Parts: sequence; structure tokens; C-alpha cells
Amino acid sequence: MSCVAEIRQAMAEARAHTLRLVAEVDDADFRRQIHPDFSPVGWHVGHIGVTESYWILQQCKGEPSPSAVYDHLFTPTDNPKPNRVHLPPRAEILAYLHTVRERVLAFLERADCGSNHPLLKDASIFKMLIQHEEQHTETILLILHLLAATRYDSSPSPVLGEGRGEGLLLQNDMVLVPAGLFLMGSNQTADTLDNERRLPTEEEWEKAASWDLESYRKRPYPWGADPPDASTAHHDAHSDGTAPVGRHPAGSSLYGCQDMSGNVWEWTSTWFHPYPGFTAYPYEGYSVPYFDQRHRVLKGGSWATHRHVLRPTFRNWYHPWVREIFAGFRCATDP
Ligand SMILES: [Fe+2]
Repeated sequence: MSCVAEIRQAMAEARAHTLRLVAEVDDADFRRQIHPDFSPVGWHVGHIGVTESYWILQQCKGEPSPSAVYDHLFTPTDNPKPNRVHLPPRAEILAYLHTVRERVLAFLERADCGSNHPLLKDASIFKMLIQHEEQHTETILLILHLLAATRYDSSPSPVLGEGRGEGLLLQNDMVLVPAGLFLMGSNQTADTLDNERRLPTEEEWEKAASWDLESYRKRPYPWGADPPDASTAHHDAHSDGTAPVGRHPAGSSLYGCQDMSGNVWEWTSTWFHPYPGFTAYPYEGYSVPYFDQRHRVLKGGSWATHRHVLRPTFRNWYHPWVREIFAGFRCATDP
């Protein structure tokens, strides 16, 4: 089944990235907590394995956990950050990761992507796990940067990826982005994370007082009476009022903005909050604890963000005072 082949390949890609990053990390650095906001590299590696084991081996396959000790050590709610320096040896954690992956792959070979099982439908739990691993590998990379900075000259080095030439960086004039409507979030349930899904209906639009800039008090076309101005970014909406919609405060590449993704995460002024119609998936703890009016949304993705999580609808979230992530901001002003 091609679905299985695609998932297997993406999982292998994510894992190769993880292993490449930790290949040179010795046992001491594996368990070193370089910053109180970030767990040791080894904790992230164990956590990737425990998460994979929990969702596939326990929840989908019905197997007992391979290690109750690991479950406790690498489940965030069970083990507070300051305790996470107490870890098994590096080789043991890597062996655990390998063992879990072998069993998961054996399960994947027989998986039915057409299943109606809420976790297996469209392979959604596998896709979530691939993105989960890649989110953690970005964190591992930033921890490695912090570790390196303690030993070496940490003056900034160029971080521009392929294809980003000086020409682009020189084009830093302001770009006018006309106000308009566009589809915010995603309705692609199998490929996205719970916090980026948005399924508001016409009725919800009526209630969305927070979006009530004067020109958009009315329901969006075609729900409302007036057609949009030809210059607005208006995407196809279902005339039955079921399509997700939103008004975006920032720009779009359609209007000449550049480096919208894959350079640095861009801080936004938006609190991380659930979109209307939010449903936690695959569990409450994934996003809900961070809907606390203390985390701001970052968009765009950094040079260290893997392609599977590099998309316009992806939302990252951090406390606004965190300085260690690969983030910047985009200058914007009213016309
Ligand atoms: Fe995680």
C-alpha cells in the first residue's frame, strides 16, 4: 500500500535526522541541561520513543508498554524539567528508540490507512508522530547550539539556506498587503495538528466579535451581501457557509513578501488560543495546556524546521521572553 510506503519513508527521514544530530553528542552532553527552559538532548530522544510507543504500540496495537520506567522518565507531566538530567545511559536510550521503532514498523506493515479507527484513519497518528519527532529535533538542534556556545566563540554565523541569495535580503521595502479574507487554519485533519484546524461555520462568524474590524463586521462574501473588492485576497468559500475563514493580520507571498517560511520563526502578537471548533487530538495535553494567555504564536518555520512541519497554517508557540529559539520578527505598519 503506497500510504504505508510514504509513511515509512517519512518516518525514516525524520529518524535519520534525529540520529544525525545526536551522533556526536557524548554521554555527558546527552544529559546536560544547558538552560532551565530546555530539557537535555537525551530527554528529547527518549521522549520521541515513548511517544511513539504510547500511540502506536499501546493505543493502536494494544501491547503493554516496553518500559514503565521510560514512560515515567520521558512523559512531561510525570517528570518535571529540573529532574530530567537523571537519565539512563545514552546507548540505552538509543537502543530503546530502535526497539520501539522496529515494533512500530512491524505494525505499520499491516496497518490499514482506510481504517475508521480514529487514530489510524488516513494514517493520521503516524503523520502526527513524524511531525512530533521533527518538532523535537528542532529543539535538539537549538540545545546543541546552546551547548556549542558555551565552548566556542558564539558570534553569529550565516544561517541562510540554499536558494536565499543576497538579492532577496536587499529587497526589504515595505509591501502593501490589502485587507482581505483568506482561509485561516486548515481542514486537512490527517496532515495537521489539532491547534491549526479550524472549522467555523457561518453561525460562528456571526459570533466572532474579535474579528470585528469595521470593514469585516459583515459576514464574508459569499455569505454576506457585498462581493469583495477585486484586490482582496479572497479564497474560494463554500456558499453554504461551512468553509473556514479568517482575516489575517500579516502578509502573503502573493503580494511580494519574501522569506515567509524557512528562515526564522516569526513572532506574532497573537496569543496561542484554540480556533473555533477546536477538538483536541490526539490528546488534551498536546495543545490545550498552552492556551493559557502566556504563549504567543510563531509562524513560518525556521531554517532548522523540517519540511513536514513547514507550512503556512502551522502554529508554534512559546513564552514571549524565550530568546533561544530560531525566531525573529517581521516589521509591519499600518499604511
Ligand atoms: Fe513532545
